[in-house]
Amino acid sequence: MNSNILEAIEPFYVMEILEQAQKYEKKGINVSHLEIGEPTEKINNAIKDRAIKAISNDQDRYTHSLGLQALRIAIAANYKKNTGVNISEDRVVITTGSSGAIILGLLSSLEDKDEVILIEPYYPCYPQLVKIFGGRVKLFTTHSVDNYQINIKKLRKAITKRTKLIIVNSPSNPSGVTQSEEVLKSIANLGIKVISDEIYQELNYEYKVDTMLNYKDDAIIVNGFAKFYSMTGWRLGYLIAPKTMIRNIQKLQQNMFICAPTISQHSAIGAFEIDNLEIERMKRDYKAKRDFIIKRLDDIGMPIDYSPDSTFYVICNMEKFKKNSLDLSLDILDKVGLAVAPGRDFGPNYDKYIRLSYASSMENLKEGLEKLNKYISEYT
Ligand SMILES: Cc1ncc(COP(=O)(O)O)c(C=O)c1O
Repeated sequence: MNSNILEAIEPFYVMEILEQAQKYEKKGINVSHLEIGEPTEKINNAIKDRAIKAISNDQDRYTHSLGLQALRIAIAANYKKNTGVNISEDRVVITTGSSGAIILGLLSSLEDKDEVILIEPYYPCYPQLVKIFGGRVKLFTTHSVDNYQINIKKLRKAITKRTKLIIVNSPSNPSGVTQSEEVLKSIANLGIKVISDEIYQELNYEYKVDTMLNYKDDAIIVNGFAKFYSMTGWRLGYLIAPKTMIRNIQKLQQNMFICAPTISQHSAIGAFEIDNLEIERMKRDYKAKRDFIIKRLDDIGMPIDYSPDSTFYVICNMEKFKKNSLDLSLDILDKVGLAVAPGRDFGPNYDKYIRLSYASSMENLKEGLEKLNKYISEYT
């Protein structure tokens, strides 16, 4: 790869915090982790049972490059159930994590030097992948005063004849906000390609589940099992694309990954067999944690100035502490043993922010916010 591109790739700054936290933990120092977007919810037995069965039955060889037919059918049925959208399973490709879906989606739709619009604050790997694959990043910043909604009038003005693609992530990591139906509809009509990362689609506590496919049939959809089903380490995601693109995506998949992990594919069929009551319980728990974190941040003088409605993240403006987000996050870790994600990961205009994840236990959340309170009252 061109060494200039390698030079331009940014690290995941949150990993620098995690690695520093691990050093402290090795020394016996207690660290509360609110930095990583990884659920502490246990994996449901419906998924585990399918994994055990697949292993016992020796269902452990490569699958079809597009994925197990039964899983592709189950995903198509789930989209229909959740969003009302009809898609045939031959538009679904099972991938190695949602990360694999983003890679295949970008590779199959980007041409050299195409301009790609990214909505800031963004998921950190988007700009890095766009650069790796020869595209040019164009940032479009959203703000808390607009509740992180994309201002369509301004977005239209940002589009030039070089702009070929936009990546939308609704609900969003890191803001935890869902774009309105009106915004999604307008993006669908911009006349450029759309990759819609819907990995947090079902972790939504206020609105009905939506998909870009409701507004743009040829959008490329990215989704996966890591967040809603807590399957982070099982590395399983999927992509929904127009039929005309599937053959090219298949060739990329064969050459890059062969297929997605087989045991994980068998297991994921179990995700769609989880009792509805259990799903409702999980969503209620996340919602209670979201309400708790918002209330507690307010109590300690760090009010959230927008309304997060989904995912398990909130971002806080830390401007008044006069440090960049990496130094601030390292200082919080050092002084009180709390790990948070530095806003620098989510775009250059978010370097005065931190992200807190409420994917962990209520006990850990309470302890973490107590530590943040201590930091604010004793060290600032
Ligand atoms: C918006 C978004 N997309 C994609 C991913 C990657 O997920 P996976 O673990 O399925 O590769 C993440 C992980 O944090 C994410 O937040």
